[in-house]
Amino acid sequence: MNKNNAQDRKDGYFAGIDVGSTTTKMALLDFEKKIRVSSIIPTGPIIKKTVDKIINICFEKNLNGIDDIKYCVATGYGREIVDLADEQITEITCHAKGVNVIFPQAKTIIDIGGQDSKVISVDDNGSVLSFVMNDKCAAGTGRFLEVIARSLELSIDEMATLSRQSKKRVEVSSMCTVFAESEVISLVSQGVEVSDIAAAINRSIARRLVGLVQRIGLRLPLVMTGGVAQNKGVVKAIEDALNIDILISTEPQITGALGAAHIALKRFQERRDSIE
Ligand SMILES: Nc1ncnc2c1ncn2[C@@H]1O[C@H](COP(=O)(O)OP(=O)(O)OP(=O)(O)O)[C@@H](O)[C@H]1O
Ligand SMILES: [Mg+2]
Repeated sequence: MNKNNAQDRKDGYFAGIDVGSTTTKMALLDFEKKIRVSSIIPTGPIIKKTVDKIINICFEKNLNGIDDIKYCVATGYGREIVDLADEQITEITCHAKGVNVIFPQAKTIIDIGGQDSKVISVDDNGSVLSFVMNDKCAAGTGRFLEVIARSLELSIDEMATLSRQSKKRVEVSSMCTVFAESEVISLVSQGVEVSDIAAAINRSIARRLVGLVQRIGLRLPLVMTGGVAQNKGVVKAIEDALNIDILISTEPQITGALGAAHIALKRFQERRDSIE
């Protein structure tokens, strides 16, 4: 592999690979910090296969070969299993960096992924000041929404759209996914409108996240990342609960991979400078 070659200044790419519990994301940056290619695929049961697959997808789309990667940072829960990686860095740091690149003014980040949710407080340079996370149970995560959507026989998109048509306030009080699912089934059998149940579910996620935000202290502006940032119903429920507007990039799900790629570029430059 042609890595860390001080002569070779402008050719090559910097890779960020975020192996999440639910999806694996990859972003490739060039020397100008431009995203050349990115991809999102489901994380399969064999992580090595998933990582090989996303690398193949990225290179088929765009670039000449894997040897053009100058530095690779892996993040996410499966980061230790990425052979291509020069370094592993936590999701917290990578999300903070990815957000700083897109929204340099950001002070607080909410990341809701498939199996955990996190709130991160950052400084003006995108460095992490503090963070809290819920990774003990599915409540307040994408998984929670998927379980409830299934029991309502809706897709995630349908549930998000319906939730915004809610006319009557009902409550789903349980924070536990299993108990919340029972509550939902009971509400359906009482004839409660599905749109009202969907809105109650979004408020339940919002309550969970507001609890995390309060532990860390709300500083504005607040940015949301992760796949669930694409769920307009959940975003609106959090905005209403905190009484704020939330900033979201056009591709919130690749934020961690993007941050990892930016850190890869920085590391490469630091190493090149130290050789010269
Ligand atoms: N367009 C969409 N609208 C609503 N929800 C979505 C959308 N796309 C993905 N999601 C949800 O996002 C979740 C996955 O998000 P993400 O890829 O950030 O998770 P992850 O990084 O794999 O998980 P974790 O960070 O918990 O390890 C899934 O639960 C999925 O249902
Ligand atoms: Mg994630």
